[in-house]
Order: sequence, then C-alpha cells, then structure tokens
Amino acid sequence: TDYTLTVHPDRTGPAISDSMYGVFYEDINHAADGGLYAELVQNRSFEYDRADNPAYSPMTAWTETAVAGGTGRAETVDDGGRLGERNRRYLRLSLDGAGEGGAGFGVTNSGYNQGLTLRKGARYDFSVWARTDRDTGTALTVGATTADGTSLATPLRITARGDRWKKYTGTLTARASAADGRLTVTAGGSGTVRLDMVSLFPRDTYKGRANGLRKDLAEKTAALRPGFLRFPGGCLVNTGSHQAYEAPGWERKRSYQWKETIGPVEQRPVNANFWGYNQTYGLGYYEYFQFAEDIGAMALPVVPALVTGCGQNKATDDPALLRRHIQDTLDLIEFANGPVDSTWGAKRAAMGHPAPFGLTHLEVGNEENLPDEFFARFTEFREAVEAEHPGITLISNSGPDDSGATFDRAWQLNREAGVAMVDEHYYNSPQWFLENNGRYDAYDRQGPKVFLGEYASLDNRFSNALAEAAYMTGLERNADIVRLASYAPLLADTNDAQWRPDMIWFDNETSWGSANYEVQKLFMNNVGDRVVPSTASTTPATTAPITGAVGLSTWATGAAYDDVEVTAADGTALFRDDFSGGDTRWTKAAGRGTWAVEDGAYVQSDENAENTLVTAGDTGWQNYDLRVRATKTSG
Ligand code: AHR
Repeated sequence: TDYTLTVHPDRTGPAISDSMYGVFYEDINHAADGGLYAELVQNRSFEYDRADNPAYSPMTAWTETAVAGGTGRAETVDDGGRLGERNRRYLRLSLDGAGEGGAGFGVTNSGYNQGLTLRKGARYDFSVWARTDRDTGTALTVGATTADGTSLATPLRITARGDRWKKYTGTLTARASAADGRLTVTAGGSGTVRLDMVSLFPRDTYKGRANGLRKDLAEKTAALRPGFLRFPGGCLVNTGSHQAYEAPGWERKRSYQWKETIGPVEQRPVNANFWGYNQTYGLGYYEYFQFAEDIGAMALPVVPALVTGCGQNKATDDPALLRRHIQDTLDLIEFANGPVDSTWGAKRAAMGHPAPFGLTHLEVGNEENLPDEFFARFTEFREAVEAEHPGITLISNSGPDDSGATFDRAWQLNREAGVAMVDEHYYNSPQWFLENNGRYDAYDRQGPKVFLGEYASLDNRFSNALAEAAYMTGLERNADIVRLASYAPLLADTNDAQWRPDMIWFDNETSWGSANYEVQKLFMNNVGDRVVPSTASTTPATTAPITGAVGLSTWATGAAYDDVEVTAADGTALFRDDFSGGDTRWTKAAGRGTWAVEDGAYVQSDENAENTLVTAGDTGWQNYDLRVRATKTSG
C-alpha cells in the first residue's frame, strides 16, 4: 500500500517547549542505593532493619572478619554512644588483644548483589566515623579484596584516636578489576572501637562530585538531554506516615520529606523505601537539584499531598500536619531559590551551591485515588504557594488511571479551579498507545495543561518502543496542551526490580538502554520549535464533508444532554465532554451549526461559543462521517 504524507509548512502548529520531554526518576528497582548513588558499601551505617525488609538485619551485607588470629566481638548497638540522633545504630568492636602485632578483628562488607565493582587503576575514597576507648589509639586496617580474599589494593592504615566520633579518610587504588569486591575494616589491639558510616566511593563519579553519582548511569541519563527531571517519585513520595523523623521511637515507612534528605550524610536518617528496601537518603534533594543542573534539565520535585495513593488510599486529617507540610513546601522553594542569607538558601549554600537552582515547577501529590480529598489539600498548598511565590507553576494530579470516575472527577475539580497543570499517569498495552494517538486532540484548549508524568507500554520490546514513538507524535501534535512528558520509570537493577518495563537497566558493572530508551533519546535530542501540520492518507475515514448540520439532527430543542461524544465513522474519538450534571447549552440551536477547521481545530459555529469542538492538530479539511452520541437528561 502506498501512503501519502502531506506537510503544510504554510500552516502554524503549536510551539513545542524545550522542556517538553524529560525523565521521571524514582528510587524504585534500587535506582538510588546500589544504583545511581555511587556508594559501594551496602548498609554503611548499620541501619538496615526488619522494618525495611523482613530479610534484613543490622548486619546485612556485613560479616565478622579475623586477621592473623585476631579475636573479638562485633555487635550493632543503639545506645547513648551513637553518632547522632538521626544515625542511631553503630558497630561496636570489642577487641581482646589476642595476637597483638599484625592481628586484627573487624568486619567485611559485600556491597550490593555479587560484590563491590572495582576497576584496575581506579581510585576509591574510603571514609569512616570512629571512636576508641584505648588511650594509645586503635590501628585500623582497610583493605579491598575479592570474595576469595585476594588483595585488590594496598591496605590503608588509619589510627583512630579519642573517644569522640571523628571522620577518617583515605584512598584505595585498585591494582586489579573485580566484580566480587569486598571491603574489610579490621582493628588491632584491645579495648572497644566504635565504627559508623563505613563508606567507599569511586573517585570517578559523574562530574567528579563528592557523594556523587555512578558515572555510566548519570551519563546515560544525560545523553537523553532531558528537558526536566521529575523526582523523587512516584509512590514513595506520598505513601506511609506523613510524620517527620523524630527520635526516639522513630517510625520507618515515612513519606518522602525533603528536609530529612539534606545536610551532612551522616546526619540524614534512613527510611524504609516503599519498594521494599532500605533508603539511605545519601542521594537527597541537594543531589537531585545538582544532578538536574548538571544534565541541563529543569528540576521538578514532587511533595506529598497528605493523601496517600498507590493502594493506600487514606486522607490524613490533621490540620497542623498539613500546615507543617505546606510550610516545608514553601521552605523547599526557598532552599532552591532563596538568597544565601535566607534560612534555607543558607543551607543550600553551606552544601556548596550559593547560586539559586532556579526552581520553576513543583508538583503536589502522586496518583491519589481520593480526588475530592486530594483536591481540598492541593488547594491549600496552592493558595500558600501562589501567595508567596506566584512565579512557581504548581502541578496537580488526576489519579492513577488514564480514564474512569476518579480521573474524571479529578479533572473536573482541576478544570473548575483553573489549575495550571495536571499530571496524568498510565501504563497500557502497545495497542492502547496506537489506538489513543488522538487522546489529546480532544482536550479543552482553555483548560489546564497536561504533565504526562508517567507512561509506558507494558514491555521493553521493540514493538513497545515503536508504539510509544507513535504515541509521542500525538503528544507533540498537542504540544499546546501536553507541556511535559516522561516515560517511567527511568532505572532498574536487573538483580532486583520491582517494576517492569524500565528505561535503563543496570547491574553492578554495566548498564544499557532499552529500545524505549532509544525512542526517548531520539525525541529528546530532536525537540522542534513548532509543530508543522501534516496530514496522512491514512488519517481516518471519509465520507461526508463536515459542513452543514452533521449528524446533529438527533438533538432535540429544549432538551439537556450529558456525555456528548463525537466520533468518526471508524470509531476514532474526536471530542468528548461529560457536561457534568446535564447541560442546556446545546438546546438553543438544536444541533444546527457549520463544522469547519480553523487553526487546526474543529469548530462548530454556533452562537454559543462553548460549543467549540477541538480535535486533532491541523488535519485540514477531512471528509469525516461524524457520529454523535449523547445521553438525554431532560426535555
Ligand atoms: O513508575 C512506577 C510507579 O508507577 C510509580 O511509583 C507510581 O507513581 C506509579 O504507580
């Protein structure tokens, strides 16, 4: 079959924003710890707990190690000797002094999955917080080996002195590569030495940043040239308790609260990640903002709305807590944009970034199933943010589905309140994506803009990528409505993925982009300025010209209608309006009107301007045989 594509350079399509295509980053599938966050030591602060995952203990990834006959006891302890109120558990090594001189006792860390990945010639920055009760100090030996004990680097010798917590550092250089690396820290002599935050980072992180990011994963993300970075989730944003970390009796499974994730890493509490593992917050809000800046993407943080989603479906009814979260959101804007002499701007500067990050967009909530409860709280966030930061675009939500009662109700609330932008999420079959290319053709041009914050067709096959590419042409054709779009999720560890498909896959040693990644890269690297309208010979079907009173003879004078749908003869959806609660706007002209195409929109000329029908970007004159269906509600 021959197909003809006709391009209309003489017609003007919608402008496409530079930030239209971005990435959705969530710490799911070990995207942060064991993934993008370059830390090689797993459970570095002994905070793993059954509450994060039933298989965990405080010694997860650690084993006791004796060298040259050294003996002792290794225990994890949470007592008054702790490193800090937010970093409570530490390792206590009780050394019995046996075999002084070369002997040692301590622990070995096995990293994530099969081990620490070390590369020949590369340098690794070690650090540990330690204190000792031995007056003469305690000699620590830090070594890197393979799983069978073959040494990979000249060991570091560090002497810990004094019974107050102090940070010690050093560098290991790998003399061979290994995928099953181990990090061993042993102590000689007698007495008690306490260790916490045992850390090993590759020197070669993305852009060489300290506490930085795994280079290959960051580079693959950067190569997309994303217009924005949505973070930190996803379900982990708005699930769990909305109380902040508070010692003692602190709660795991808290919603993601940005203030817990900034400042020195040893002062950040851990959390139980919604996806079933421990979350260190070593990769926190400062690092996300820095990463967004480094890859030239607009930072787009998401804060909890105090209505849980993702199957939890609970609205928090605590006005003081809501006020605190709203204040946290205002403080977040100050953290990102405030001057260095503002309270939160000063914290940003202290972390190394005196210049503002230039935050412009912020989202409240994620996939709430309770639209009314969500919207009531969103409105309070909105009023507060608009009052203090009118320049910030606040993004609202529409629930977890592409359609249905929750979706419709959420959209109705957002539309009626004149919200700037609404987030939509859907994961569907490739067929759905092919069949719904025209989804946004019918969206109300006067209503809120769309942030398509999460979408994917349900696999990583070539056909999925192709269906997504086809669908993206529909997004782009509607760039006046769809302002931002991100495939989801971004990253997945092949060893333990909670969600498929994903855009970039990795293991400890390497990473690769899916076919879907290539599609995203193609679109993101070739964002145009403006849509050039086009028509294809396959553009739907074709009998009667749309002039005159097309198919509207069914309208009855004086009647009210609901659920109006206009479709082409082949069933392609052109226009839909639920006209909630019945509406008499259509009664006056009894369906008379002339259908024409103006500036890429279908228009039914009628005295009643609200009857404007908007569909596909410019398809030019088409011979549509229209079908109109409506529910008569009165008259
Ligand atoms: O992208 C994975 C998950 O899908 C997100 O956490 C959530 O928002 C959605 O349900």
